Amino acid sequence: MSDDKDVKILAIESSCDETAAAVVKNGREVLSNVIYSQIDLHTLYGGVVPEIASRKHIEKINIVIEKALSDAGMELRECDAVAVTYGPGLVGALLVGVAEAKAMAYAAGLPLVGVHHIEGHVSANFLEHPDLKPPFLCLIVSGGHTHLVIVKDYGKYEILGKTHDDAAGEAYDKVARAIGLGYPGGPKIDKVAKEGNPKAIDFPRAKVDEFPYDFSFSGLKSAVLNYLNQAEMKNEPIVQADVAASFQAAVVDVLVDRTIRAAKEYGFKTVALAGGVASNSALRAGMKAACEKRKIELIYPSPIFCTDNAAMIGAAAYYEYMNGVRSGLSLNAVPNLKLGER
Ligand code: KG4
Ligand code: ZN
Repeated sequence: MSDDKDVKILAIESSCDETAAAVVKNGREVLSNVIYSQIDLHTLYGGVVPEIASRKHIEKINIVIEKALSDAGMELRECDAVAVTYGPGLVGALLVGVAEAKAMAYAAGLPLVGVHHIEGHVSANFLEHPDLKPPFLCLIVSGGHTHLVIVKDYGKYEILGKTHDDAAGEAYDKVARAIGLGYPGGPKIDKVAKEGNPKAIDFPRAKVDEFPYDFSFSGLKSAVLNYLNQAEMKNEPIVQADVAASFQAAVVDVLVDRTIRAAKEYGFKTVALAGGVASNSALRAGMKAACEKRKIELIYPSPIFCTDNAAMIGAAAYYEYMNGVRSGLSLNAVPNLKLGER
């Protein structure tokens, strides 16, 4: 354990297809951030193959952790705690990180802190914005989650809205596959859409009755598939860039609408974005324009901290650690862990 009063946490993330480790000081300063992405491997299959992900995590995790420690110029015993994502995510993938973190914490006699993956995404905003403090409104848009939450305090959330079906990233990935862009769809649609006309096709912007802050993307996905089928039946050419841009415009409109509506209703002057889709250029631009109009401050992490990484887990872990949270060596992976649960 370090003898200065700074808290340095070794954090591990393996919930999906990134094997990642980082050392974070006082929840804000990234001393190292190592990510081994398995994306190329899964691209061959058009999506994440859980069994392959687990095997690759096992192969890479020690190398990634050693590099995170050496990049930070530290030994494990100089850390104050070991943190790990224990849910939600793929059970086999999560277990690799959890088992590794438990072994390291036990061997070095360090406390273990289990971290919620989505709490990690939200906390990525603390890494580059030293003045950011709760309360604020946060839109979490990742491959598995779409949540609009009030971050009431560190580790304390009130969920205002969520998706009834697909997550925003999932919709991107499915539509990308349908228009022949492959996995992962988000960054590919983002790029191709820059060449297209967002008004070319009028795709639906779904509202969920009685739930003003909820989302639904399955109707939009079906509308894109119908459009493609109809065009094929009529032997009409499909302009990939126009489909991508029009789909993206529909997603962004809905995300911006719900977020701004909540910011107005609850009087928030700070809005943060989190999760893989938060690196989307159209979402950033659309949200920025809407926020500027209403004098709302918009915050988002750099792209490297939007998609899965361990620095965000180290940031979230710091506040849990300071609140006295300690996970025993009985910590287990919880694939469907809900936000706000322990
Ligand atoms: O947060 P993340 O790395 O993993 C989960 O926790 O799910 O998010 C991955 C998701 C994928 O669906 C990917 O297509 C999407 O984020 N994504 C993007 C962009 N970069 C990643 N979606 C839209 N535009 C992007 N630039
Ligand atoms: Zn994630």
